[in-house]
This record gives sequence, structure tokens and C-alpha cells, in this order.
Amino acid sequence: MKKVYIETYGCQMNEHDSERMLSILSGGGYVQTDNPRDAEVVIVNTCSVRAKAEQKAYSSVGRYAQLKKRRSETAQNRVIVFSGCVAQQEGRKLVGRFKGVDVVVGPSQVHRIDELIRQAKTTGPVVAVAPDTDQNRFRNPVKDMNGVKAYVTIMEGCDNFCSYCTVPYLRGREVSRNVRSIIDEVYTLVASGVKEVVLLGQNVNSYRDNAGEKQVTLYELLSMLNDIKGLERIRFITSHPKDLTDKLMHAFTDFDKVCPHIHLPIQSGSDRILKLMARGYTVEEYMDKINRIRTLKPDVAVTSDFIAGFPSETDQDHHDTIMFVRRANYDNIFSFKYSDRPLARANKYGDKVPEHTIAGRLKELQDAQLEITRKIYRALAGTVQRVLVEGDSKKQGRQQGRTMHGRLVNFSGTVPEGTVADVLIDDYSDNALYGKHIPEEE
Ligand code: SAH
Ligand code: SF4
Ligand code: F3S
Repeated sequence: MKKVYIETYGCQMNEHDSERMLSILSGGGYVQTDNPRDAEVVIVNTCSVRAKAEQKAYSSVGRYAQLKKRRSETAQNRVIVFSGCVAQQEGRKLVGRFKGVDVVVGPSQVHRIDELIRQAKTTGPVVAVAPDTDQNRFRNPVKDMNGVKAYVTIMEGCDNFCSYCTVPYLRGREVSRNVRSIIDEVYTLVASGVKEVVLLGQNVNSYRDNAGEKQVTLYELLSMLNDIKGLERIRFITSHPKDLTDKLMHAFTDFDKVCPHIHLPIQSGSDRILKLMARGYTVEEYMDKINRIRTLKPDVAVTSDFIAGFPSETDQDHHDTIMFVRRANYDNIFSFKYSDRPLARANKYGDKVPEHTIAGRLKELQDAQLEITRKIYRALAGTVQRVLVEGDSKKQGRQQGRTMHGRLVNFSGTVPEGTVADVLIDDYSDNALYGKHIPEEE
């Protein structure tokens, strides 16, 4: 049996690309292994959003390229694949830099992985990083992996060019996938037991399919998916605040399967910084959007991203950001230290914030949010939550799943995967709720 080892960095889109590559290769007789030394094919699917992620990619590929120098037959014949956003960024240079890399493949070409591996075996190193602007890039094999939840790409690329961000240079311009192909894929997934789909795109709010008589936006797409029998939950990430329309907000009340959770990254609580970031909204415009969603759907969970230490960020800007975190009442946030990206404009901005200041600000942001998350979780103790069971948790004897709001729940019970169970919440930590399954009365 041929074996493939894969290591993935970065966002959900990258995780999904890894799943797609595994699916394609499993069709060609490969099975997945968690030991790179056993594998005929080693794939490192990389991310370049921050400098640290890029460095991880190099050290990981370097390690596997070393392994190839061993004398065993498996080692000599091993194919090393450098995929993802760092592959897109560096292209052919990687072949020279890492002796032993056989395939360099960018995100929009991963659907060709089997053919590229075959080619590399006969011709030597191949590089496939030409941007693919047609629908081919969405070619998705049916996913045959862990059953309950599946990612479905609906658009790829980004036209926003936020000044700190390298993604538009690596994933290219926005391309929306045909609505028919999305719906067909969801039908197939549901037929194979999937209960929840997560619609993916760098900027899902600007999804548009103009091919039919009427334009289909994310709202209409959600409406169509909501009618699919057997599907229980629909999520979508990531939303850009400037493209969040009132109509889309109504999806939270119009469609019962659309989960009451929105990830709506603000990045900073200072208007001056938002402008330098080129985000296209002010703090008050953003707050107004959250308020409107909450008026429609009072208990909606809102999460966000923040960047600490953007060039020229002052103590006052940072203070405004902390105050905003308290005001927004987020369920949770992801916060990152600003990282210079060579392709992004902010790279050239002066007045860089020193590393130790950035580290201090990040910690304050995280502490401010922790207080709020704990308050929200504390208030859930004693309530009964509907949990879609995803499997066993790492801790023995417990099961794991998520609420409609996206909150992780660990609980004691013996509920089949893929069913929705009532769980009485009796405890919480900083990132999960705990409880017991209450069996339904006969
Ligand atoms: N398209 C999504 C996700 C982009 S990347 C969006 O617009 O929200 C995910 C997060 O990484 C961003 O929201 C941002 O908070 C962070 N990020 C992007 N570039 C960064 C950089 N150069 N330094 C630090 N964080 C960055
Ligand atoms: Fe990057 Fe901004 Fe596009 Fe998100 S919206 S991917 S942060 S450029
Ligand atoms: Fe990283 Fe590329 Fe995603 S840079 S965050 S893997 S789009």
C-alpha cells in the first residue's frame, strides 16, 4: 500500500486543500500515514500570512528533504511536495533552495496533485503556480473523511488588498464558484452522512454567481442550501464587515439551518489605524452592523480578529482597541502580532512598533477578551445546549461537539456521531463548555 504524509499550516481553506489532495491521492491507491518516514509522498501545505508561518514551512520542508538523503529505497523514491501559499509566493526558487523538493504547487493547482506527482517521477522537479482563474480550481473530489462536518469552497481569492495582508497576492483575485456545482457537492456530502457544511472563502460576503437569469448572492445560496433535506447546519467564513449587507443579516432569521454565529474581523478599534489598514469602515460603522445583527437575532455569537502593533499604532490606538473589545462583547477573538509581509504595502510604512511593545499589547488584548469569554460561558452554566456530536474528545470517556453558536462542548455520554444531543452545561474553561448528555424521554 502506498502511503502519503501531509502536514498543514494556515487557514481553513488550506486545511480543505489538504483534504482535497488526500482524497485525490486515495483514489490513486494511497493511504494516509502519520509517520513521514513510511511515506512515498510527503506534502507540506504551507501558509505565508505571517513571517512565523513562512519560517515553519521552510524548516519543515528542509527536514523532509534531509530524510530523502537516507539510503533506503523508500527514502530515495520519496516524492516531496511543497504546496500552498509559500509555494505560490516563491515558485521555482524553492527547487533550487531545497534539494529534494519534487513538486511545487500553488493553491489554485492542487486539484492536479496526482498528475504532478506522476510527472515529477519521470521528468524531475515540476512547478505549478500559474494562477487558475476558471472553475477548474474548484474541482472537488467527494470527501470521504470524518463524516459529520465538511468544508465547501464557494469562492477563492480576495480583491481587498488590506495593507498588511499578503493573501490577495497569493490566492489571486476573487473568483466565485458556480452555484450548481456547490449545491451538487453539498447533496453528495449529505448523502454520505455529513450534517454540517462550512462555506469557505476569503471574503464570502462578496460571493456572486451571475451565470443564471438572476444573480445569486450569499443570501440566495444560503436559501437554496437551507432546503437540502438531511443537512442540519450551515456556517460561512470569512465575512468582511464592509460587504455585510442587511439582506445577508436576515439569513440568520430567515433560514433555520444557518448557525447564529458570525466571524466578523475588525482588526483594530482605532479609526486612524483602520484607515491605514485600508479596511473600508470605521469603528462606529462596524458597531452599527453588529448592533443590527443583534437586533434581529439577539443571542448571535460574534467573533473577530485583531492585529496588535500595526505600524504607527500608539498607546491611545491600543487603548481604543481594548475599550472596543469590552464594548463589542465578542464570544471569542483571534489576535495576532503584526508581521511585515514583503508583498503587502504596510511593509513600507514607517514607525514600526517594537516587538516587546507588540507582545505586551497582544497580552492585554487576550486578557481583556478572556474576561468576556468567561462571563459568557459562566452564564451558560445550568442551560441545556443542542450539541452536534463530532466524536470523542481527547480526554477519555468524553464526547465532543459544538453548539449552533460554534461553542465547543465536552460531555459525558454515548451518543452516536452526527446526532444532535441535549447537553446540560455544568462547567466551563477558557475555551470550552462541559456537561452531561440528557437522554430524550421516551
Ligand atoms: N480573509 C480573512 C482572513 C485573512 S487572514 C479576513 O479578511 O478576515 C486571517 C487573519 O490574519 C486576518 O484577519 C488578520 O487578523 C491576520 N493577519 C493577516 N495578515 C497579517 C499580518 N501581516 N500580520 C499579522 N496578522 C495578520
Ligand atoms: Fe487579507 Fe483583507 Fe483580503 Fe482578508 S479581506 S484576505 S485581511 S486582504
Ligand atoms: Fe495562510 Fe494562504 Fe490561508 S497565506 S491564511 S494559507 S490563504
